[in-house]
Amino acid sequence: MNSDINILAIESSCDETAASVIINGVVKSNIVATQKVHEQYGGVVPELASRAHMQNIVPITDLALKESGLRKQDLSAVAFTRSPGLIGALLVGAGFAKGLAQALDIPLIAVQHIKAHVMAHFIEAPRPEFPFLCLTVSGGHTQLVICHDHLRHEIIGSTKDDAAGEAFDKIAKMIGLPYPGGPHLDKLAQSGNPLAFEYPVGNLGGYDYSFSGLKTAVLYHLQKAVRLQPDFITAQLDDICASVQHTIVTTLLLKMKKAIKAYDIRHIGIAGGVSANSGLRAGISKLAEEMNVKVYIPRFEYCTDNAAMIAMTAHYMYQNREFSDLSVIPSARTNV
Ligand code: KG4
Ligand code: ZN
Repeated sequence: MNSDINILAIESSCDETAASVIINGVVKSNIVATQKVHEQYGGVVPELASRAHMQNIVPITDLALKESGLRKQDLSAVAFTRSPGLIGALLVGAGFAKGLAQALDIPLIAVQHIKAHVMAHFIEAPRPEFPFLCLTVSGGHTQLVICHDHLRHEIIGSTKDDAAGEAFDKIAKMIGLPYPGGPHLDKLAQSGNPLAFEYPVGNLGGYDYSFSGLKTAVLYHLQKAVRLQPDFITAQLDDICASVQHTIVTTLLLKMKKAIKAYDIRHIGIAGGVSANSGLRAGISKLAEEMNVKVYIPRFEYCTDNAAMIAMTAHYMYQNREFSDLSVIPSARTNV
């Protein structure tokens, strides 16, 4: 009997339709189709996302299987993103995975998306050691987590309003950058002065985050400045971007520093789309050096939404026999 663990995972929580196959924890394929339809609306339109998932899911899965060299009959389990995300989008992936698991008579594994972002660190070497402190920052989530082992993740802090990526994107929109604005703002920030404008660093108690105050402060600052100088935004674009980025990064790292000390952490990392940010990458590397801890940043394709991270999480859940039955339902919420 073949004892390989062959997992097909599906990710459909937002605007990426993704499928990945891993064999014994090694990624054999990682296919992502990013939905372009949302660009013209300046944000993800949930109904359009569901429709695009329905169109993409079969060809993307076929491609992932083909690239892996496996046939459907070789699979040990099918995994999918259960939560959080857009409910219509999640339903497409859940329905598809359930159908496949039932037809093939193999286990179904329901994966939590934010946990999977953290698990992206275990796809390739060098892999962190436990306890591992991970900051997960994306368009939808901002969480500070201590991993005690692969599946036991203790959430010590999260955002009380906007996610870090959302803050980047909303401020980028304010200054006229295309959606999603995070990467554009990052690029402009590299030629600006991070100390040109002073914006408030959100500092709630404990390890929680808040970015709504920053968003409002930038809005008021720009409104006032434009009244005095109509071309202020274009004239000062690089400095605005650099100052905003500096403030977001400072806010994120403040709590990380506090947690490293309080929990005596030796291994830290970042995950999620915002970990592509140049300021955050430089900031966390500097922090690690200062505090004498090891820092891990997954490859970019494993930082943004992908199915390999879902598959990796499912690999460990498979070993623990954490299976779901066909009655499992997806949820938009984080705490499911
Ligand atoms: O993880 P991800 O691909 O999808 C979600 O689950 O949200 O993250 C996307 C987010 C967007 O908000 C995008 O603007 C942000 O990551 N992002 C960045 C950068 N690259 C992507 N934000 C700041 N700087 C970047 N270089
Ligand atoms: Zn994500």
